[in-house]
Amino acid sequence: MDFNEDTLRGLLSGRRIGGSVYFFRKVASTNEIACELALKGASEGTVVIADAQTKGKGRFNRVWQSPAGCNLYTSIVIRPPTEPALASQITLMTGVAVAELLSSYCPYVTLKWPNDVQIGGKKVSGILAQMRASGKRVDFIIVGIGTNINMKRDAFEETIQDISTSLREETGGDISRVDLTVKLYDSFERWYARYIRDGFDPIRDMWLKYNSKGRHVQVVSGNELYKGEVVGIDGDGALLLRDENKITRRIIAGDVSILRGLVCF
Ligand code: BTN
Repeated sequence: MDFNEDTLRGLLSGRRIGGSVYFFRKVASTNEIACELALKGASEGTVVIADAQTKGKGRFNRVWQSPAGCNLYTSIVIRPPTEPALASQITLMTGVAVAELLSSYCPYVTLKWPNDVQIGGKKVSGILAQMRASGKRVDFIIVGIGTNINMKRDAFEETIQDISTSLREETGGDISRVDLTVKLYDSFERWYARYIRDGFDPIRDMWLKYNSKGRHVQVVSGNELYKGEVVGIDGDGALLLRDENKITRRIIAGDVSILRGLVCF
């Protein structure tokens, strides 16, 4: 099946997530388009999909490499009835939804706090959530997801070749982008419904299953560098890190790298 607007519209019609589709051959960033649509009142579940992005955004203003013809770049508009302070839980929830989906293609999927989905310790998918809030209410959140599906190893920029991968590289075969896209929204819809119904606890439990606790990591958070062992995530989605003096810190934002300990296989 071709990865195009008609095919995706047909398959997603009537769904809560994906029922309204905006498809582009090439855009600067699907997150930017989704944000413009949300500001104009786009309803929850609206999705933006692109075959290529010219300014794909990653966290910390990094570039998300977004060539045509091989991957999925999508942004989902949601309007959760939660407080802005809890919005980071949505990133973790999305990580679980993506990890569960990718596990059906490849068994070695893990999550790295807060937003990386990895296979064999290499990044296969990243999440960039952006929020607009008014006072104590979330107006909308744009959940941007980039997943490397059929990208070949030598197509990754040299600087990220050793830390990135794609499903094709891990499984050895081409994967239907159409199928994966539809299944991604299914998985997101299920986990999002669960989050709204049962809160963060089931998400945290599942997140921890994909993230072997006990890993030794270092975290750059603002100007600080913390080292320690991951002991979990708390009810707000913050990382709990225990240092060598047995002091446990809550880290709300930061960039994690793994120091030692095995990747889950
Ligand atoms: C990260 O790991 O740093 C987050 C990467 C998020 C990339 C996706 S691709 C679709 C959406 N549009 C963007 O510009 N970024 C996100």
